[in-house]
Amino acid sequence: MIKFQLSEEQIHDLIDLAFEARNNAYVPYSNFAVGASLLTKSGNLYKGCNIESCSYTPTTCAERVAVLKAVSEGEKEFQAIAVVGGPNGSNDLESIASPCGVCRQLIYEFGPDTLIIGARSNEDYYVLPISELLPKGFGPSHLL
Ligand code: THU
Repeated sequence: MIKFQLSEEQIHDLIDLAFEARNNAYVPYSNFAVGASLLTKSGNLYKGCNIESCSYTPTTCAERVAVLKAVSEGEKEFQAIAVVGGPNGSNDLESIASPCGVCRQLIYEFGPDTLIIGARSNEDYYVLPISELLPKGFGPSHLL
């Protein structure tokens, strides 16, 4: 059963917002700027960008920044997260973004049905539930 459905307009708005978020990426080491936008079940929007550290380990992906911002504001149900990424300084992206494994795990924490929109533009993107990006994922039901 499909839990969340998005209109094309909603998808385009989320991709635009992810590009907007990407402008704030702090990426002096990789020069790879990523932006994410998150739509909660209640209709609120959160943005995230990647933030790097000179000691590397504290580097945090754009998707996780968006999720952490939402959860810290009391939101735990997410309809969709859009992500775009590529070399800093240009919006003409070569590849469609895809969340890393750590981000997939954190997104899965809040439900298997959250839609991931991996995009390089408004014309070139995929929409897949996180359960398809993290098959047989380890989730809260394994512990609770
Ligand atoms: N990055 C993200 O922000 N999201 C992803 O899904 C993949 C990778 C960031 C981490 C690092 O700052 C840079 O992209 C290069 O890996």
